[in-house]
Amino acid sequence: HALSALPQAGLLAEPGRSAHYLEMNFNPGISDAGICRALDRARQALPDVYIALAFGATAWQRLQPAWQPAQLQPFKEMVGENGYTMPATQRDVFFWIHGEDQGEVMNAVLQVHDAMRDVAVTLLDLNGFKNREARDLTGFVDGTANPKGDKRLDAAVIPEGEAGAGGSYVLSQKWRHHLQAFNQLSVHEQEQVIGRTKQDNVELEGDAMPPTSHVSRTDVKIDGVGQKIYRRSTPYGGAEEHGLYFLAFACNLRRISVQLERMLGNSGDGYSDHLMKYSTALTGAYWFMPSQSDLDAVL
Ligand code: HEM
Ligand code: MG
Repeated sequence: HALSALPQAGLLAEPGRSAHYLEMNFNPGISDAGICRALDRARQALPDVYIALAFGATAWQRLQPAWQPAQLQPFKEMVGENGYTMPATQRDVFFWIHGEDQGEVMNAVLQVHDAMRDVAVTLLDLNGFKNREARDLTGFVDGTANPKGDKRLDAAVIPEGEAGAGGSYVLSQKWRHHLQAFNQLSVHEQEQVIGRTKQDNVELEGDAMPPTSHVSRTDVKIDGVGQKIYRRSTPYGGAEEHGLYFLAFACNLRRISVQLERMLGNSGDGYSDHLMKYSTALTGAYWFMPSQSDLDAVL
């Protein structure tokens, strides 16, 4: 996989056991130069932490008027045949800060916030974490079917020859879990919801795999081609409110939106994702994470 433009370093740095998410809107009346100066200060390298930046469609158009990735668009509210909705909370800029040490990540969060404080308002400020087995708060392992090695680039990175090559289309969605309801299900019923076994994390097969399971809704092939995306979600929250901050990268925005439509029951087969009975999407945004050189060119 020969890419002349490289993704920002944070993209492939795993596992990122500690993460922090900042979504911000630029304040009115700030010059482009003022915004770029602030972003450049915000992203200054710190030890053992990755500070990756991504932009909403409007913000990218403003900072880089010469070109934009073909499919970049603001996230719009999605309404499902299943009666559930995915709200839109599109903002201008997204900082994905992650590393293995929560204290180092926090130092970076403070640096970013201090650099941005005069030019932007922070509308999402969320800490995420991962345990050793990468089990989410439902107790299921999250990320198993993710592409590995160089396959991550095929799934996540806009290919050579397209505008934005070396960058990614990104979806972030904060999902709140209703664990009391989920935990009232038997383990067997929970496995039907997810589509894998809980303890051993084995994918259900054949008739044992419900078409309404989360894996059935999101494991998509179009014309024989697996619509793989690269997920870097983490759990978040505390005792009262908690869930998954879903974060995924794709070479093509359709890969993501097709999965969302299938979860919502909008794909024509009459099935929707039973995961949505136990989790509610609270935010939703599409971002463009430019390659390192495209980011450098703007800042
Ligand atoms: C698979 C959890 C939202 C896309 C999985 C798995 C779990 C999980 C436990 C199985 C293990 C794995 O392969 O990672 C959740 C939770 C969510 C959520 C708790 C929110 C409450 C989403 C959303 C999307 C998505 C919004 C798509 C935009 C996928 C994909 C797979 C997957 C592509 C792999 C399917 C396969 O090829 O086997 N998720 N997920 N997930 N999820 Fe999610
Ligand atoms: Mg599969």
